[in-house]
Amino acid sequence: MAAVALILGASSLAAQEEGGDAGEAEEATAAANTTQGVFSEEQATRGEDVFYNICAECHFEEDFGGPFIQSWAGASVKDLVDEIVATMPEDNPGGMPTEQYLDVVTYMFKINGMPTGEDELATDDMDAVEIAVDLDP
Ligand code: HEC
Repeated sequence: MAAVALILGASSLAAQEEGGDAGEAEEATAAANTTQGVFSEEQATRGEDVFYNICAECHFEEDFGGPFIQSWAGASVKDLVDEIVATMPEDNPGGMPTEQYLDVVTYMFKINGMPTGEDELATDDMDAVEIAVDLDP
């Protein structure tokens, strides 16, 4: 998955060179993929609450383990959140605020061993963060 980080890094650099908003480019390089501590412990804990209050009615944690998260490698966090917003909870798709969908997705990242960091991932930044799975920790 190192290639993912390299590609993202290169495109952010290109954006800077093209005279894009430097501040924005800096933020994007600071949080490029999910192996880099892009969500906080608190956020994942909120997501755990959402999981047990809502999703656990029909799901086990294992539903979102290795094979599931690997199938999303290379997509953006926003791609995954959008997919879940569109389809889940099965009895009420889109029925939660986007923030709560993102929280539960950060919980999925956490149970897959992705590291937490100081800052929360904001819904505005979801499309700038790529889902990357570290296969040899
Ligand atoms: C009322 C039951 C129900 C609830 C509540 C529910 N789901 Fe689902 N979910 C399903 C069913 C049924 C499927 C389809 C399972 C399959 O085909 O593998 C599914 C599939 C999924 C998938 C795709 C799994 C895959 O292997 O690709 C995701 C992701 C998902 N649900 C996330 C969530 C999240 C997050 C929540 C809580 C916000 C949630 N679901 C709540 C019933 C539910």
